[in-house]
Formats: sequence, C-alpha cells, structure tokens
Amino acid sequence: MKAAVLHRFGGPEEFQIEQVPVPQAASNEVLIKLQYSAVSTWDAFERQGGYAEMLGMQPIFPYILGSEGAGTIVDIGKDVAEFKLGDSVYTASFLNANGGTYAEYVAVGAEYVSLIPKPLGMKEASAILGVGITALRGLENVLNLQKGETILILGASGGVGHMAVQLAKLMGAEVIAVASGDDGVNLVQQLGIEKVVNGRSENALEQIKALVPHGVDSALFTAGGKLAQDLLELVRNEGRVAYPNGVQLDVNTTANIKVSAYNGEPEGEIMARLSRYIESEAVTVHIAKKFQLEEIQAAHKALAGHYSGKLIVGIDHE
Ligand SMILES: NC(=O)c1ccc[n+]([C@@H]2O[C@H](COP(=O)([O-])OP(=O)(O)OC[C@H]3O[C@@H](n4cnc5c(N)ncnc54)[C@H](OP(=O)(O)O)[C@@H]3O)[C@@H](O)[C@H]2O)c1
Repeated sequence: MKAAVLHRFGGPEEFQIEQVPVPQAASNEVLIKLQYSAVSTWDAFERQGGYAEMLGMQPIFPYILGSEGAGTIVDIGKDVAEFKLGDSVYTASFLNANGGTYAEYVAVGAEYVSLIPKPLGMKEASAILGVGITALRGLENVLNLQKGETILILGASGGVGHMAVQLAKLMGAEVIAVASGDDGVNLVQQLGIEKVVNGRSENALEQIKALVPHGVDSALFTAGGKLAQDLLELVRNEGRVAYPNGVQLDVNTTANIKVSAYNGEPEGEIMARLSRYIESEAVTVHIAKKFQLEEIQAAHKALAGHYSGKLIVGIDHE
C-alpha cells in the first residue's frame, strides 16, 4: 500500500511516499481502507520524535504517523463482533504500533473504532474524534461543567477549541470565546457563540474583562502564552481551569482556583458519548484545508501556520 513514511524523525521534509506492506488485523482489530486522515497538531510533535523521547519508546522505521481517520472496514479480527465488512467507520488511536493513518490502510483495535454518526460526512468524520474527545473530556470529566455556568475558552477557533465551544453551549453553559484572527472570530460566531473576542488583537484582555466583569466559573485553555496567564485571574474564587497536556501554561498563581492538566485519551466510552452529541446534529467540525496524502509535507508546513479548525489529507487508492 501507499503510505507517507519517515525514515528518521525531523521536519516536514522527512516525509516520503512509499509502498509498504498492508498491516494485518489481529484478533481484536479491524482493517480500515482509509479515505481521509486528519493531520493534527500533536502529529508535529510525534514527527519530531517528541513522544518517542518522552515515553522512552524504540521507534521502528519506516514510521507511519497519523492518529485519526475515516474509511471502510475491509477485514475483521476473529474476536470482533460489533462490525461487519463495508461499515463506514471513524477511528482515533494514539501511537498505533501497526502504523498510523497516513496510509491507504490502518489496522486498529476495535475499541478505537466507531460507526460514523449519520450527520457526518466521511471527510468531517476523519477529523472530529481527537479534538472532540479532548474537548469533551475537558468539559465533562475534568471541569464538570454545569448548566448555567460561565466558561472561558481560549483558542476557540482551533481544533479542540471549536469543538469545545459547541459542546459547552449544548451543555447549557454561557460561553465566552477567545478566537484567533478575524477568520477565527467569524468561525466561532457561525457556530452560534455570541461573546467572541479576537485574542490576537492588542486590547484583547480588556475586551474579555468587559464581557465578564464578575469573572468566570471555569476556563478551558487550548493555547498558552501571556494571554492565558493573564486570563487565569478572571477565574472566580474556587473556580476550575483545565488544559490538555501540550499547552504551555505556568500554573503558578496565588488565586484560589483548581488547575488541571489532562489527556484526551480515546477509548470506547468517550467515543460513544461524543457520537451522541454529534447525532444531535448540533456539533460539527470545520475543515480548514484538505491536502492529498502526496502533499503531506505541505500539510505539515501548514500545521505550523495559522488556520481555523482542522487539516486533513485525502487518500486515493491505486
Ligand atoms: N494531551 C492531549 O491528549 C491533547 C489532545 C489534543 C490536543 N492537545 C494539545 O492541546 C493544544 C490545542 O490543540 P489543537 O489541536 O486544538 O491546536 P490548534 O488547532 O493549534 O488550536 C490552538 C488555537 O489557539 C489559538 N491561539 C493561540 N494563541 C491565541 C490567543 N492569544 N488568542 C486566541 N487564540 C489563540 C491558535 O491560533 P493561531 O492560529 O493564531 O496560532 C489556534 O487556533 C495543543 O497544545 C495540543 O498539543 C493535547
């Protein structure tokens, strides 16, 4: 099969399109013929060897990146009962030892696979799980967001952020969104959020303060930096803050607030929970740009620039 492979970790220029063997589905796995793969922010860290170093892994080259995608089931391990051949599915798994989704096929544990909920096209399905799960875990499991509470979401036009604003609104919270650029503000407004500030504008902090004169009950930070640091002070006494690991945040604060770092952790229960929100037809993912697998170097260069929502690659089969 065709795959984008690395022969060593490094920059986007290390990707090469090559023929490699199709992975085999083990007894608890399915083989998916992929139509699209997400190109996600954490893929850049993996490409540079960040996870291999952090987790003390011995990478095997050629190495295939990609943790999310969508396609059709073409083979099923003998212990997998919940799928049939031809099912349209989406998957999110992390550091898959069989190889990732920047390829024509991926073999993945059935617990990391789910039927695509009706409202989603395959393109959108390929990109929604990683960011959707991370947003949902932050809001429900970590922040325990309640109906009627106020939540500040920083990075609201990014992958995790634009999922979080939609989910928080569905949970009945009042959302104050801090997006990036005019395009980011437009996207978040189109998603139905009224209180949106451009966090890249000069007086962003003052604009946000004016929207929440009494502070907020909770905050989800999907970006770090100076603004994030300043925004910690807007969280009310005994309020809660969550941020996914990877966000650079100095959590030293004298304020009486609870600050928690967490991981998205794809697994069956939260995938099912997210699928139920998607089925409500009120949650969608914005695809900023689609590349082809052969353009993977350009897709990874785009990861380092500004865009709203998600990037994906389309996978043509020979
Ligand atoms: N541990 C986990 O399980 C896990 C899972 C998913 C994600 N993460 C981490 O979570 C973070 C977010 O992931 P993501 O995929 O959502 O990344 P992303 O798509 O890059 O989103 C971050 C967003 O924050 C924006 N931003 C940065 N500074 C801002 C500011 N001052 N005001 C307004 N917006 C600002 C960025 O805009 P610009 O275009 O201007 O930069 C971008 O839109 C990353 O650090 C990622 O590694 C961790």
